[in-house]
Amino acid sequence: MKKMTSKELRKAWINFYLERGHIDIGQTSLIGDGTTGVLFNVAGMQPLMPYLLGQKHPSGKTRLCNIQGCVRTNDIESIGDSSHVSFFEMMGSWSLGDYFKEERTKWSYELLTQVFGLPQDRLAATVFEGNESVPRDDETAKLREKSGFLKENIYYLPKSDNWWELERGPCGPDSEMFYITDKPACGPDCNPSCSCGHYVEVGNDVFMQYERIDDDKYIPLKQKNVDTGWGFERILAFLNTNGDVYLTDLFEGAIRILEQASGKKYNENKSDTYSMRIVADHIRTSVMLLGDKAHLVPSNIGAGYILRRLIRRAVRHAKILNIPTTVFEKLVNFYIDDVYGEFYEGLTESKEFVLTELNKEVKKFENTLSAGIKEFEKVTRNMVAGDKLDGANSFRLYDTFGFPVELTEELAKERGLSVDVEGFNQKFKEHQERSRGNIATFKGGLESTGEMETKYHTATHLLNAALKVVVNPDTHQMGSNITAERLRFDFNCDHKLTDEEKAAVQKLVNDWIKQDLTVTKTYMKKEDAVKSGAECMFLEKYPDEVSVYTIGDVSKELCGGPHVEHTGVLGEFVIQKEESSSSGVRRIKAILK
Ligand code: ALA
Repeated sequence: MKKMTSKELRKAWINFYLERGHIDIGQTSLIGDGTTGVLFNVAGMQPLMPYLLGQKHPSGKTRLCNIQGCVRTNDIESIGDSSHVSFFEMMGSWSLGDYFKEERTKWSYELLTQVFGLPQDRLAATVFEGNESVPRDDETAKLREKSGFLKENIYYLPKSDNWWELERGPCGPDSEMFYITDKPACGPDCNPSCSCGHYVEVGNDVFMQYERIDDDKYIPLKQKNVDTGWGFERILAFLNTNGDVYLTDLFEGAIRILEQASGKKYNENKSDTYSMRIVADHIRTSVMLLGDKAHLVPSNIGAGYILRRLIRRAVRHAKILNIPTTVFEKLVNFYIDDVYGEFYEGLTESKEFVLTELNKEVKKFENTLSAGIKEFEKVTRNMVAGDKLDGANSFRLYDTFGFPVELTEELAKERGLSVDVEGFNQKFKEHQERSRGNIATFKGGLESTGEMETKYHTATHLLNAALKVVVNPDTHQMGSNITAERLRFDFNCDHKLTDEEKAAVQKLVNDWIKQDLTVTKTYMKKEDAVKSGAECMFLEKYPDEVSVYTIGDVSKELCGGPHVEHTGVLGEFVIQKEESSSSGVRRIKAILK
């Protein structure tokens, strides 16, 4: 096994591919661009979907590589052990209709044994066992063996283990590689799909030959691609620290800061070690999200809510360790100055922004945290292990003290209790409906004009998007005027809208309202906003840093806002009038009922 620093590992990966005719395509934002159903970039292939589907890559090349930051928070609760992290880097390489299984398997084995120096008898691989539509992947199994894997360490597994796909897009059978650890197997049937820790996945080679066009519908792709994703942190940990990612140079400095501040030792007792890992992990991910090109900020919805949860959970575990949250600044400095600034464009320049936003969120939560914990203790005082905290109380902890329900669940779990999450969701819904009801009352006279104008802003974005779908993709905004009573929207169009067109536009907007789409706000540089495809009229009027509002996957516009958080609160959208505004420009007046 070769000892390598994180910087050496980065270099080794990229060089290996440059030597084999690939180009380094660099990284994209960690925040999902709205084209897939996920909030964050979860895999290196995600921004490459069009090219895996057959579009020519802008570089003109068919062999690509990079090291891409990814955020996966679906198993946020398992963070705290030695190998899970919420932000991770994926070492990736791609063949876009170029080489296929033969080269891929050969190179993977070379990487594992020659570049990383992992011993042959510590390596295992899995291949797809086949199903009614796609045959068993004997070819890859044979090639894995030919490349050097021991036959007894190759396993056939079903689609649930050996198939890579996102909600839609390019996909196919995969073949994962595992490191066999010192931890004994959990039983005679233990295999790489088992989570006992005997096998730990280090890399995945996907043979992308299909496009998923519906939940159960796949069509063959014109080209055969290879998509690889190998775990940077995990490999680094096996090479250097017996599998503990928190002892690698990506985290070591952070753990030292936490040890000094708390007077406690990492790895000395389980609960302190657990809290140190959570603080180190969550602050690292928060730094990368706040400092990302898109400058995500904490909020109550979508990606912003995940960020809020990460920061609030870090605050709580800092309290458990008895560490003042001012220590977070040291962690931010460590991650930006010593680890990531060199590799993530714009991160160093964003440090002030990261510190300010982090601090704001920390302060907001610190103000209510101890009162909230007292309240939690009060309402659970008479409960015994196995009891469930009801929806009303968990909702109150959320609404009054800013406790994400997951945090309440964590507190409950520590006392052997659970939370009625369904009940919480019910209360949440009732609360939303009440707010909707209040808005209706507003219209009867108590209306807050600001509230309505907000709403009309969002409706205007939906109208703009619907006109593109129904009338012409090239229509765009020529002017807009909003009052508390109505919106007025001018757009380029060479004809008077037909009754059918008007009805279709109105219906589409109302469909989107009913879908209760999430409205997300992100900050980015003006040129990045344009590159990301955000609609921007009168570009020159905007500052260099702009806010971009995304509504579900239907609209993305540069706009000063403000907007509602969910389209469901808009009510019914009604077009009242469609008329000429000037030559080649039409005007729509519409209201929300
Ligand atoms: N896209 C594959 C993965 O993320 C490589 O595992």
